[in-house]
Amino acid sequence: MGRIKPVSYVKPMSGGRSSPHLILFDDGHKYVVKFKNNPQGNWVVTYEYIVNTLAKRLQLPIPQYKVVKIRSQFIKENKELEKIGFKPGNQFASQYIEDSVTFLNLPSNLTRDQLVNADQIAGLIVFDHWIGNSDRNTKNLLFLPADAEGNQYEFKMIDHANCFNISTSNPERKFLPLKVRKKEIYRWCNTLLDDTKQLNSYVDRILEIKNEEIYKLIYSMSSDWLVDEDAKERLYRHIKYAKKALPKTIDDYIKWYLKRKK
Ligand SMILES: Nc1ncnc2c1ncn2[C@@H]1O[C@H](COP(=O)(O)OP(=O)(O)O)[C@@H](O)[C@H]1O
Ligand SMILES: [Mg+2]
Repeated sequence: MGRIKPVSYVKPMSGGRSSPHLILFDDGHKYVVKFKNNPQGNWVVTYEYIVNTLAKRLQLPIPQYKVVKIRSQFIKENKELEKIGFKPGNQFASQYIEDSVTFLNLPSNLTRDQLVNADQIAGLIVFDHWIGNSDRNTKNLLFLPADAEGNQYEFKMIDHANCFNISTSNPERKFLPLKVRKKEIYRWCNTLLDDTKQLNSYVDRILEIKNEEIYKLIYSMSSDWLVDEDAKERLYRHIKYAKKALPKTIDDYIKWYLKRKK
């Protein structure tokens, strides 16, 4: 299994705090690349790698992703990369989905019938609680047209950098207890739930993931991402705790959701 190589620089991705850049690779696909020494911090690539691997394990809808190597020559040849001072080595790459529509550009708030993978919305809700995603907003979901008429869409989850202990309200980056997430986007998600049992079924799937697997995942990270041993241990302990705390947190989420429905 050979690694893909960058062919040409395309453009910076707008709006990004982590300064992602679009690059064409020799597998013929473009990827949104987040660099290990991006302006937001080294944890961006670390968390993207861990969270995307867990999402894939749960068969949640995410773009294909890869750890890619970018050499110093490629950075030198592309001013947009050089001026930020990106370092060569392993970076995180999310395969670019062409023609996706953002939540804000959808014709209206989609209903169950209009979302071909609506059953995975329960997975998104439960997963975001587990990984402590503080950044699920309208920009961090992509919608792909699923029919020619533009009546149906498929959603994909992107941007999993701000998870676990990263949020503007937690500048010290403490690992905090899980909490019910009540952002506007989840209110829309709730309109797509058939039955709250769908949430419990995703909790069960997460509980099936063995701690050993999570430990191995954290230690499979690229060695040039500079995550020290202590940080790895603390992250492992937090994910393990979050798994234990998840059933109660989702029960509380369901109570909040049912109260709002009345
Ligand atoms: N795989 C992808 N396919 C299509 N667009 C993407 C993809 N990944 C990111 N983007 C676009 O790039 C923007 C920035 O990427 P994101 O991962 O959200 O990082 P950040 O918020 O730190 O800039 C997103 O809002 C989205 O518009
Ligand atoms: Mg984003």
